[in-house]
Amino acid sequence: MAVQREDAGSWLHMLVLVYALSWAFSLGSVAGQTGQLNIDASPQNARKIPDKMFGIFFEEINHAGAGGLWAELVSNRGFEAGGPNTPSNIDPWLIIGNESSIIVGTDRTSYFERNPVALRMEVLCDSKGTNVCPSGGVGIYNPGYWGMNVERRKVYKVALHIRSLDAVSLTVSLASSNGLQKMASHTITGSKKQFAKWTKIEFHLKSNQNNANSRLQLTTSKSGVIWLDQVSVMPLDTYMGHGFRKDLASMLANLKPQFLKFPGGNYAMGNYLRNAFRWSETVGPWEERPGHFNDAWGYWTDDGLGFFEFLQLAEDLGALPVWVVNDGASQNEEVSTTTIASLVKDIVDGIEFARGGPESTWGSVRAAMGHPQPFNLNYVSIGNQECWMLYYRGNYQKFYSAIKAAYPDINVISSCDKSTISPSNPADLYDVHVYTSSSDMFSRTSMFDNTPRSGPKAIISEYAVTGNDAGKGTLVAALAEAAFLVGLERNSDVVEMASCAPLFVNDNDRRWSPDAIVFNSWQSYGCPNYWMLHFFKDSSGATLHPSNIQISGYNQLAASAITWQSSKDKSTYLKIKVVNFGNKAVNLSISVSGLNVGIKSSGSKKTVLTSSGPLDENSFQQPEKVAPLSSPMDNANQQMDVSLGAYSLTSFDLLLEQSKHSSS
Ligand SMILES: *[C@@H]1O[C@H](CO)[C@@H](O)[C@H](O)[C@H]1NC(C)=O
Ligand SMILES: *[C@@H]1O[C@H](CO)[C@@H](O)[C@H](O)[C@H]1NC(C)=O
Repeated sequence: MAVQREDAGSWLHMLVLVYALSWAFSLGSVAGQTGQLNIDASPQNARKIPDKMFGIFFEEINHAGAGGLWAELVSNRGFEAGGPNTPSNIDPWLIIGNESSIIVGTDRTSYFERNPVALRMEVLCDSKGTNVCPSGGVGIYNPGYWGMNVERRKVYKVALHIRSLDAVSLTVSLASSNGLQKMASHTITGSKKQFAKWTKIEFHLKSNQNNANSRLQLTTSKSGVIWLDQVSVMPLDTYMGHGFRKDLASMLANLKPQFLKFPGGNYAMGNYLRNAFRWSETVGPWEERPGHFNDAWGYWTDDGLGFFEFLQLAEDLGALPVWVVNDGASQNEEVSTTTIASLVKDIVDGIEFARGGPESTWGSVRAAMGHPQPFNLNYVSIGNQECWMLYYRGNYQKFYSAIKAAYPDINVISSCDKSTISPSNPADLYDVHVYTSSSDMFSRTSMFDNTPRSGPKAIISEYAVTGNDAGKGTLVAALAEAAFLVGLERNSDVVEMASCAPLFVNDNDRRWSPDAIVFNSWQSYGCPNYWMLHFFKDSSGATLHPSNIQISGYNQLAASAITWQSSKDKSTYLKIKVVNFGNKAVNLSISVSGLNVGIKSSGSKKTVLTSSGPLDENSFQQPEKVAPLSSPMDNANQQMDVSLGAYSLTSFDLLLEQSKHSSS
């Protein structure tokens, strides 16, 4: 049946059907799946895809940041995770020794006003006398986030704050998980006078071994009382030297994301407002940050990855930051419009932190952190799908007016749908989240086909296939999302931006499946949908061409065509992507019309994402079981017959001859 995907149950549909059947029979093409894909590459029918079309959405979920992208190795570095009231839990810190040799607890004697808790360690044993310390000494250790990854010849910067009633001899080491092997160590010594007040100590440790499951330990064989606080171990080797774990940040960079939305959805809201992400509590010197309990996803974060670091990450990735602000709503509470003013001011201050000159109140805080140049913050999202809440619209208006008054060029994103936006309830973009089954996601390739073409455009800031067939990241889920993205490309006159969710999962704390990137302390791999996103990384700012598929009795294909120019060698490619979401192989005749230059077969290639089964996933054991495979295309031409495997995503990248004027 020569039916286009975007059909409707109508008379027209019936007519097309009858026509198509007669056409099919007249050609006698009854055996196998064969189809036709027509692409109109003529410049007059081309349309530019928005420059910021495909980006990423980072949420602090699944230990994505704390114990993930943020390279800090110590968990609960300030001993605040147990809460401000003491005595408190010091988890995941543990004690080396026992009650006859050491007593460890917390008190509120910290040097830092905003994070009052410090660790008090009373050592009862000594190197001589009646209570001799066990060999190796006694003390505390921190296993990090399910083991610290320490690498041979790499250097780690240690910082800690110490105070003592007596002279100090404290050995700081990176050790194996049982403490028996030491990868590196350094002994802090000093007189009673030297440590009578809180003192910051910093030094480097260079590891002599690889150990992905190591721990930090602080031990002594000297009796006395020592307080410790804000203990940090950072690898020196991080992405652009800015503290991001290199393998994970590189995986993001490889997607060429055009924007970075942060810090999350529910994470920005909190289950309760007292636990929401408050940007101003996450900036300034790391040791002064209070940290907070991420109640939405059930863990503590020291806020090493704070507002500044998110902005820095966006800059390092060449992406525009999109800040999701807390607008006075949590999962369980709402601030009423009559009392929202201070929260509105807080967000305007946050924009000043990002964009204000280095002499401005908040811009000066940013400058003191090493970034006098303003960050390029242009997008602010008011809340996380809260349009249904009682005070949302009233509060939204307050945020909108205050932000526009101070920063007229900022794009304000509404949580309400397009139909609610009007001159009296204005928005530059409206936010859409899509979580659904793979078959529904596939059908949403036409989701925006009938959207009114005028008015604000959509940002699809969260989308994912969820449920059984999504597993922990299956091929079929990736294919359904690919079809959805193909539909967004085709509708990029009404859709401005898109990002999947969630981005990361630490395999030791899986709060949500599936996720695009899986990691543990030392390994990482992309799920099929991570690889799928590579098929779209050249689309932002590219030129879209109309295309249509004709195929009988097989409604499982989705396709798009773009031309884009490589920034590396200035070559221009016609990129044709075809999703085959069904279980049948398809022979497809592709016909390209309207090109004003020729196609070069040398340099053209075909890239396929598929696997032997639709539910196949990647794993630490087989990280690239489902990953793109490229091969040269010797039949690249304006007319060509290609084959599509069942359950596959194929990209045909046709190298175009150089022309004097570009094809866009
Ligand atoms: C596709 O074409 C090849 C030959 O070019 C043929 O062997 C195969 O049967 C065809 N497959 C289908 C599904 O029509
Ligand atoms: C503490 O550990 C020592 C060995 O270092 C052992 O001799 C002693 O019995 C232990 N005491 C308690 C109370 O467990």
